Amino acid sequence: MLSYRHGFHAGNFADVLKHIVLVDLLDYLTQKDKPFEYIDSHAGAGLYKLSSPQANKTSEYEGGISRLGNEDFPELGRYLSLVGEACNGNGTRLSHYPGSPWFARRYLRERDRAWLYEAHPTDFAALEKLMDRDSRVRCQQEDGFQGLLSHLPPTTKRGLVLIDPSYEVKSDYQQVVDYLIKAHRKFPSGVFALWYPVVDRARIDRLTQKLVGSGIRRIQLFELAVQADSNEHGMTASGMIVINPPWTQFERMQQLLPKLLSKLDQQDGFYRCEQLAGE
Ligand SMILES: C[S@@+](CC[C@H](N)C(=O)[O-])C[C@H]1O[C@@H](n2cnc3c(N)ncnc32)[C@H](O)[C@@H]1O
Repeated sequence: MLSYRHGFHAGNFADVLKHIVLVDLLDYLTQKDKPFEYIDSHAGAGLYKLSSPQANKTSEYEGGISRLGNEDFPELGRYLSLVGEACNGNGTRLSHYPGSPWFARRYLRERDRAWLYEAHPTDFAALEKLMDRDSRVRCQQEDGFQGLLSHLPPTTKRGLVLIDPSYEVKSDYQQVVDYLIKAHRKFPSGVFALWYPVVDRARIDRLTQKLVGSGIRRIQLFELAVQADSNEHGMTASGMIVINPPWTQFERMQQLLPKLLSKLDQQDGFYRCEQLAGE
């Protein structure tokens, strides 16, 4: 039974970091004319109304996207303008926050393809409607981990995989690495991005150790903690692990993360920008 609904969390500090990295990766893949495939194993609904009862219940976006202004972050111009577009171009009022499939679709050219997996029936229906029978996009209401493996390697030989599960059960932390390793084995040249929440630091340490122990090369980690690690309930930090990142991404994140921290920090926050495995 799926209880997680991303609508409660849309636009929070974790979404901000995730989507900044995602937009960077999409920018990179569309620099060349050669087509690419985008695979989103846990797609969500695709677009979230910030005035919905869900978003308003927690107002998490107030600690995330609401704190970022164009004037403070000229280097985030592309990401912020896309968020503005999702609000029907009404740049001054933040009415909606886009999800990963929305960002990806915005980048698709004629020969690019997107495969979106979403298991929750309500979010799947919303996603399908949003994608509006776009012939470049296929939405599947299936398990995203299995779906992901079935597409690799992509026919275009160029691809970006986003793995962004809800980590509702503890075994997810183990499962994501197992699937990531299998997926990488099938498509070693692919770009992979794995999102993770920090609720219990030890789980993330185990996850990264296993990934590094797999022998996969070119792994980078970008994390933003808005609070110090804690044993209390709740997410204090989140991160993105990227395999085969663009060569410019590390330096860009090194400059960006301290700036983001200064805007999003709630209490004793910190950031991590690390090369987990080199060339
Ligand atoms: C964190 S949200 C995704 C957010 C989205 N990637 C974004 O950035 O906007 C995780 C989603 O995975 C869905 N989900 C959970 N288990 C799944 C599974 N086995 N296969 C596909 N989707 C699943 C949940 O319903 C939820 O909508």
